[in-house]
Amino acid sequence: MEKITANIYDGAQAASVVVADKIAEQINNAEAEDRSFVLGLATGSTPLGVYRELINRVRKGEISFKNTYTFNLDEYYGIGPEHPESYRSFMERHFFSQIDIPPENTFVPDGLIPRSDLPSYCKSYEKEISEHGGIDVQLLGIGRTGHVGFNEPGSSVDSITRLVQLDDLTREDASRDFLGKENVPLYALTMGIQSILNAKQIFMLAWGKSKAPIVSKALEERPTLQIPASLLQEHEEIEVYLDRPASSELTRVKQPWTAGEIAWDDKMMKHAVSWLSLKSQKSVLKLLDKDYSEFGLSGLLASKGPAHKINIIGFNSVQHTISGWPGGKPQTDDETRPERSTPFPKKILFLAPEPQDTCLSAGATIQRLVQQGHELKIAVMTSGKNSVPHEETEKYFSFCQKIHDLSDLQEKLLQGLDYDKLDDEIKGKIKASLRRAETLSALKILGVEPENILFLDLPFYENGRERNYLPTEDDKRVLSSTITEFQPQQLFITGKDLEPSTVQSICYEMATDIMNDFSTEDWGKDCWVWLYESEKQIFNLGEIDMAVPMSPLEYANKSKAVFQHHSQQDQTPPITSEERLTWPLKSRSDILHAKRYDSLGLAEYEAIETFVRIRL
Ligand code: GLP
Repeated sequence: MEKITANIYDGAQAASVVVADKIAEQINNAEAEDRSFVLGLATGSTPLGVYRELINRVRKGEISFKNTYTFNLDEYYGIGPEHPESYRSFMERHFFSQIDIPPENTFVPDGLIPRSDLPSYCKSYEKEISEHGGIDVQLLGIGRTGHVGFNEPGSSVDSITRLVQLDDLTREDASRDFLGKENVPLYALTMGIQSILNAKQIFMLAWGKSKAPIVSKALEERPTLQIPASLLQEHEEIEVYLDRPASSELTRVKQPWTAGEIAWDDKMMKHAVSWLSLKSQKSVLKLLDKDYSEFGLSGLLASKGPAHKINIIGFNSVQHTISGWPGGKPQTDDETRPERSTPFPKKILFLAPEPQDTCLSAGATIQRLVQQGHELKIAVMTSGKNSVPHEETEKYFSFCQKIHDLSDLQEKLLQGLDYDKLDDEIKGKIKASLRRAETLSALKILGVEPENILFLDLPFYENGRERNYLPTEDDKRVLSSTITEFQPQQLFITGKDLEPSTVQSICYEMATDIMNDFSTEDWGKDCWVWLYESEKQIFNLGEIDMAVPMSPLEYANKSKAVFQHHSQQDQTPPITSEERLTWPLKSRSDILHAKRYDSLGLAEYEAIETFVRIRL
């Protein structure tokens, strides 16, 4: 199905090493032949691993960038090179300042060119590239809209460097960098699709589950203007590198039976039956032999058929994921239940990489666990300060000042000072306090007492910035003592399969490393690890091990808790009425899961939270 066959690696790191190898080899070849090398560069989280690898090689003396010219794909329009979120700053921070490239060899479009000069400026950017002999290797990430560079849907195949308007989804993805979508520039300068196609070779990379849907469209569908990355299919020298999660929506991965014979174990049958039921829009128990064969599942039919036999197995395995007792149901046969009935009650630890995470994806489950009498603790791993917009903080700051004025206190520490004049450290502290207050009130709604909430404030987050977090042993030590002191019997965590630079992914890796360290201890062996969803990750039906349904009232209560995380909500209401219905509650997967279970022919619930068991 793939028009360009992707290279799939276990992790982004392994893939980045391969890409860096290839670039390093070409740089050295160019040097041996006494010619310069021209590298097309991208920004975003995706190429960071490649940059780190290349930096290492420069440090080890294996390559030099003295003879390399670089051209960046794009730049936000309306902000200057000094702006911390400009792509020029990004490149300096993550790459240029750490390699031996002469500054005059690096080209990044200038976001401050006056509008009237843009046509000639854009032409000159193209001319500069061709005068340097054209791009030898173009590095590319892919946006969730399918954009490459900033060529948003609708960009034509023959587009060249120009001013473009950014898509709403793209601005949402950039909102964490700019602390709020309203601060993300509306326009950008970008090389065009044609400029990218002119490169002699293209390496396109994508990591993490949130990219999986667009990656499969870009590689498998016919080239279309609606998915700009699909237009690259016509390039003869394009290589695509994915980690496993980013490849998860490719046909050969999602429907492995289309790629040849496979072993039909229970898990694969559950996956295939639920897939077929959704695809054919028939409930599981109504599927016929002909449905299996028409949708390419004759192999399953041959080895496990007829249809009604497979249907029952598939139906039961999905049915058994549903449980109103997420901590296990006491004094019952638990053979087909997702959790053990004993011990009861359990010691349960929820790890929240960022303060809003547990509430968003497991709020109703938390409430249920508390009501069912478990000893539940929530460890909030980071303060969450780095994702609070200034506008939000300023509002609370001026509120505090008003209070201060009223109370006629002698020490008016902050009185009179504008928010803008505060230094970043104080601003960070205000933001962290704000997020603590939000978390406490959200969890209170779910029934969690303040003494059961731990704020770890892991140092990697306190000292880092978005896309640039570097966890150390200090972080691991804090987390490890939190887990080992409590010795939980259930550990809930999120962040698997996400892009590796995200806070959630970093926290997941740390937590699972620690659990592996204690896997031989009694409590470690007894502890079941459950994965809950992240904001941009929706589990597929076939992979869900536990589905916790909720009533309309419970869903309303959970929504109320989610609303407490006010600083995390998009301050700009969406344009479409369908989206406005659920705004500002970002997570709609609870409703989606309930609809899916319903269409499989199972019970119809208002909403469902879902979990995957992690076997370390
Ligand atoms: C950004 C950049 C693209 C980049 C894409 C994906 O907006 N303009 O060049 O490939 O979006 O970003 P990330 O790698 O952070 O997912």
